[in-house]
Amino acid sequence: LSTTEVDLGAIEVGSEITAVWQGKPVFVRHRTADEIAAAERDDTANLPDPQADADRVIKPEWLIMLGVCTHLGCVPLKESGDFNGWFCPCHGSHYDTSGRIRKGPAPLNLPVPPYEFLDDTTVKIG
Ligand code: FES
Repeated sequence: LSTTEVDLGAIEVGSEITAVWQGKPVFVRHRTADEIAAAERDDTANLPDPQADADRVIKPEWLIMLGVCTHLGCVPLKESGDFNGWFCPCHGSHYDTSGRIRKGPAPLNLPVPPYEFLDDTTVKIG
């Protein structure tokens, strides 16, 4: 399928699911207020791949991005690493609560796929 629809209704604040789009894992995270605040605060940090959090989300509470490390393609682990975002165990890349690379060998942020909200609880990826 070239597109994937995700029902957001069952994803509680502070949790996430992994959808599959074009055979790739896509993390769909319902961010907490603290996670959003940390992501926005770190817009001004020394980012290897500078990008504002607001440019990575449509709605701040929903972070949607490919779950594929930009180093060599492993799947990062949620709620881990030095920035409380994702940690790639393959070679130690740390991503923040916006999915931006902060430390380790990965060169780029976790990519945001094209997506749109069909209604308040349905998102279409692709
Ligand atoms: Fe993620 Fe190497 S594949 S750090």
